[in-house]
Amino acid sequence: MLLLISTYLGIHVLGVPDQSRLKRLVPSISTFHTQLPLRESFLSANAKHSIAARRFVPPSFNDIRRILNTAQITAIAPKLKLITFDGDMTLYDDGQDFEHDSALVNLLVSLLKYNLIVCVVTAAGYPGDALRYEQRLSGLLKGFENARLSKNMCEKFFVLGGECNYLFQCKEDYHLKYLPETKYQPQNILSWSSDQINAILDVAQENLQRCIDEMKLQCTVLRKSKAVGEYLFYNMKRYEEQLDECVLSTQHRIVNYLNSPWGKKNDLPFCAFNGGSDVWVDIGNKLIGVQILQQFLGATPGETLHVGDQFLSTGNDFATRHQCCTLWIVNPDETQGVLLELTALLEAKKSERSLLTLLDHSKILLDSQTI
Ligand code: IMP
Ligand code: MG
Repeated sequence: MLLLISTYLGIHVLGVPDQSRLKRLVPSISTFHTQLPLRESFLSANAKHSIAARRFVPPSFNDIRRILNTAQITAIAPKLKLITFDGDMTLYDDGQDFEHDSALVNLLVSLLKYNLIVCVVTAAGYPGDALRYEQRLSGLLKGFENARLSKNMCEKFFVLGGECNYLFQCKEDYHLKYLPETKYQPQNILSWSSDQINAILDVAQENLQRCIDEMKLQCTVLRKSKAVGEYLFYNMKRYEEQLDECVLSTQHRIVNYLNSPWGKKNDLPFCAFNGGSDVWVDIGNKLIGVQILQQFLGATPGETLHVGDQFLSTGNDFATRHQCCTLWIVNPDETQGVLLELTALLEAKKSERSLLTLLDHSKILLDSQTI
């Protein structure tokens, strides 16, 4: 495996990734933004989950996902600058708010204290409405206040809503402030016209409605300025397959429209995804969201880490894989686990740096005494 990856990395640098064996075996393989210490990571997972000692249960999908997460954390910790989090099912349960007593509060505060830029990149789109995001993140913002985070640290916390459309920065009063698009969005995004946006959303809405009618789903459709979604009536049972059908057929319908003579001039990116109990089509996606943040805040793909739960092809975190390193978690408890691993490494790095500074100072002192 290690050999497959390192050959792939080498061939990637030469610009001919199709010639690698790994690419032939897994055609959908994405970019590796860092090396991955898989051996060490396997040994640590093995110590916890007895993978090699199991005789009837082979390594599972979850074993592999966790091994890759640990390897990615180890590889990126020394150079991490920007860490982005999905919202629903990553920081809080679906449709819920960030709890005041969530164990994640202290961990996110620690990340800011380690001087990292922290950003929530969520599909939830409330155009320019800082209060709505403050409400969903209330437990976290309260935690910042309790920890008396300095102005400098507060301003390293951002929220990017609607996948890539609405950016907010935390201010020293522990409130979010909306940043006008002209401040951070590149020209090609600023030029998205409402005609282009509405044309895609019309096609999406028509298809979502068709799915609802044909599958007799107990759903309501909601249209926003840059999104359209369908969500189940309160307490209705959801069937993953029906939601996936809505996503895949809507993706297909929009792509057909964009390739048709009527849609040919419309090249806006979109994201159709299964949110667990709803289906949404947003204009833009998290790949663009992460890219915008990297340009605005100064971080490369190898210095950026996105933590999310939706990495299947019908999920909305999937797109970030092309733009940065990623951790695939399945619930907020796992987010806590990966952050404990990460902060332990950041602490070790900090202690190492303090020790080096101390050694440097002692050397200067000794040198000056020798003179
Ligand atoms: P994420 O997991 O943080 O990206 O949030 C996805 C969830 O946000 C969806 O499953 C919806 O429940 C919710 N949501 C609220 N408004 C929007 C919107 O405008 N577009 C997409 N999702 C939305
Ligand atoms: Mg999510």
